[in-house]
Amino acid sequence: MEVILAKHAGFCFGVKRATHLAFDAADRGGDTYTLGPIIHSPQVVQRLEEMGVKSVDSVEDVKNGGTIIIRSHGVASSELEAAVQAELEVVDATCPFVKKAQEHVATLSKEGYDVIVVGDAVHPEVQGIVSYATGRVYVVSSGKEVDRLPRMAKMGVVAQTTQSFEHLNDVVAACLARGGETRVYNTICDATAVRQCETKKLAGEVDCMVVIGGFNSANTKRLAQICRELLPRTHHIETAGQIDPAWFEGVNRVGVTAGASTPKWLIDEVIARISAIDQDKIG
Ligand code: F3S
Repeated sequence: MEVILAKHAGFCFGVKRATHLAFDAADRGGDTYTLGPIIHSPQVVQRLEEMGVKSVDSVEDVKNGGTIIIRSHGVASSELEAAVQAELEVVDATCPFVKKAQEHVATLSKEGYDVIVVGDAVHPEVQGIVSYATGRVYVVSSGKEVDRLPRMAKMGVVAQTTQSFEHLNDVVAACLARGGETRVYNTICDATAVRQCETKKLAGEVDCMVVIGGFNSANTKRLAQICRELLPRTHHIETAGQIDPAWFEGVNRVGVTAGASTPKWLIDEVIARISAIDQDKIG
């Protein structure tokens, strides 16, 4: 049985960086916290917990000082400010691409633009980005929503990093159609799109797909959904222990992919498990 691993399976640049920073902080010891789970991988969160890193919901939950790690998709500016005020040591693991979007929003506001963020209003990344505006700011997910916004002379557009280019395009077109001045910053990161595109291609070339990643990870669930639409023999798992050998009956080629928050060690364990099942079949 041939096992094919997607080239970009697993950690994206920002998650890899955040995870390294978190493990480095844990290694240094002392009271260490993350604001919410550092990434959407229960196994990584558990490893950090075993090293003494606790996840808290807000800075107020940290009573006796220590180090606080800011997750890759960032936090609201007020939360960061609260950590500084509380004299906590801040390890800012916000992905530089998210940081850029936050900075653009601050600059646009300062220069008198009304800010339009293309994204999902309830997503923590978007809530963080929005918090950097000092003037009017709106979150929209389509051009139609732009039509419903109040009059604006100067519009500044940024996007949630995981948005599709089509969404951004649609919103920008609607802004331009309104007249006035529009300034656009394309803050989309292509890590998600690259993973989805690659996974789709792989699912079309194999008999069975295994998708690894947190059941709470939106980008992993999306990968599994894309695969399932093409190949019903798709299995979403978090760990190698969840593999059922029966999945590979009559299978010649297995595709393996993983979400952007899945660590390499979990991918390696899954590949080793599938190979062992194959050896058992031969033996
Ligand atoms: Fe950063 Fe893109 Fe990953 S914004 S956290 S590299 S998906």
